[in-house]
Amino acid sequence: PLKIAVFASGSGSNFQALADAIRAGGIDATISLVVCDKPSAYVLERAKAFEIESYLFNPKEFASREAYEEQIVAKLQDKGIELIVMAGYMRLVTNVLVEPYYGRMINIHPALLPAFPGMDGIGQAIAYGAKVTGATVHFVDGGTDTGPIIAQRAVEVQEGDTKETLGARIQQAEHAMLPEVVKWIADGRVSLSGRVVTVSQC
Ligand code: GAR
Repeated sequence: PLKIAVFASGSGSNFQALADAIRAGGIDATISLVVCDKPSAYVLERAKAFEIESYLFNPKEFASREAYEEQIVAKLQDKGIELIVMAGYMRLVTNVLVEPYYGRMINIHPALLPAFPGMDGIGQAIAYGAKVTGATVHFVDGGTDTGPIIAQRAVEVQEGDTKETLGARIQQAEHAMLPEVVKWIADGRVSLSGRVVTVSQC
């Protein structure tokens, strides 16, 4: 099975959706590690419930982003990680991670990229007055939410939507899309040519 590390900073509902889908069967993958930068993140409880090891680090204890990423890369190599899934990991990444894992590192973002990248994609869509937004899974490159797009789902913005109501519908889309994309990758169906991603038929 494909060995996955999930990077998360918060609740971990996407971790949960992926771990549930793997447990239910049909995805040839296993989550071997959770990488987290927040001691209070609920994802750590979820990982414990699945008896999945977590690596918790405190960014403040390191001189630079590169310095903690070197530790993370050592951990990933130690565990033989083949795919990184960023699911609500709220930190920018550097070349220390991107170089060894380009094409093997994906992120989920709560907007239809390239619209509304960066922080608060949901609030940005509401404030802009967008009528359609959604969620994107993409490969991670050196930029902020700029990497090649693997999959997207559209979600309509309804009148009176708040970050909470719209966010809940976007999360439903994420929870369905993320396990699907991981399955495609585990089945070797995803290829990358320049910035265009192709998903081959089974
Ligand atoms: C997800 O909605 C994800 O799209 C978003 O954080 C949430 C994490 O939720 N990611 C970003 O905003 C990245 N810039 P979760 O912890 O419940 O999976």
